[in-house]
Amino acid sequence: MIKCKEAKKSNFKDKVVIITGASSGIGRTTALEFAREGAKTVLVSRPADKLGGVADEIRCFNPNVLVVPTDVSDAGQVHQMVKTVLSEFGRIDVLFNNAGSSYVGRVEDENFIENVKKIMDVDYFGTVYTTKEVLPVMQKQASGHIMNMSSVVGKKAFPHFGGYSSAMHAISAFTDSLRQELSGSEINVSIIHPTLTQTSLLEHVRPEDMPPPFRGMTPISVELVAKAVVNGVYYNQARIIVPFQPRLLLLADSISPHIGDLIVKLLSNKVFSRLFGTYRGKLYHEYKY
Ligand SMILES: NC(=O)c1ccc[n+]([C@@H]2O[C@H](COP(=O)([O-])OP(=O)(O)OC[C@H]3O[C@@H](n4cnc5c(N)ncnc54)[C@H](OP(=O)(O)O)[C@@H]3O)[C@@H](O)[C@H]2O)c1
Repeated sequence: MIKCKEAKKSNFKDKVVIITGASSGIGRTTALEFAREGAKTVLVSRPADKLGGVADEIRCFNPNVLVVPTDVSDAGQVHQMVKTVLSEFGRIDVLFNNAGSSYVGRVEDENFIENVKKIMDVDYFGTVYTTKEVLPVMQKQASGHIMNMSSVVGKKAFPHFGGYSSAMHAISAFTDSLRQELSGSEINVSIIHPTLTQTSLLEHVRPEDMPPPFRGMTPISVELVAKAVVNGVYYNQARIIVPFQPRLLLLADSISPHIGDLIVKLLSNKVFSRLFGTYRGKLYHEYKY
């Protein structure tokens, strides 16, 4: 049974917003948030049934929603998706490149390379393919905003998270470069780096196998991240880090990687993590997803 929430403000009234990875977690909540702001949302991820459920939630208060099942790691499917959006809505105002998967494992693991290739295909090349398809549309319109999803580990890698952190760093570098290339144009580019968030992304990982800092960390809510994305587009913020604490880690790491490494190590300890503000009484696997 779907509970209809009312539409609220209209900061994005009739703006066409593509959200990849919209079937669950951060993407789903961000799609609902943009829709409540009056946007015409385009929901993208692989199976149509999960997207259909999110679309039904949105239709309660906003009829302008389009479902386009797409595997973002397939350039041909991404091309078709953008064609579909243009034939339905005629323009693209915001692209939120959010689709992604995760991989936890050490560099020495036998299947490391294979897993890194997979994650690069979805998280990094998915972002690149979608951007490359949407950019000419925005250039023709002389307006648009591209928001890319990275992570705190796209700034400072965590152990056992080398593959995922590499993909997040690659997205970070791609976005930084694109933003500068488009500087002075009417197209804005942003990136968001959230910390561990309450989604099912790492649900399959056993608590004892989580990257060490996550073993002492309370995940932040999807709502916090979704609001940061919508505000980031509205206020054109180039780089968003949520919440505040990772900035201290990044600052320490810029002074010395050894201090950064030490903080990463200490974060697995609940007492340190509480002092640092990243443990608030509940761990990732204590939430239901
Ligand atoms: N949760 C965290 O702690 C955290 C922190 C920082 C950044 N992030 C990033 O946030 C993004 C969203 O993740 P989440 O945490 O919300 O996890 P999630 O609930 O698992 O969402 C991942 C989304 O990506 C979609 N997806 C995966 N592979 C895809 C593909 N090949 N083509 C199209 N869509 C695909 C999934 O849909 P289908 O499987 O239905 O296709 C799903 O909608 C990811 O990029 C992740 O790296 C997450």
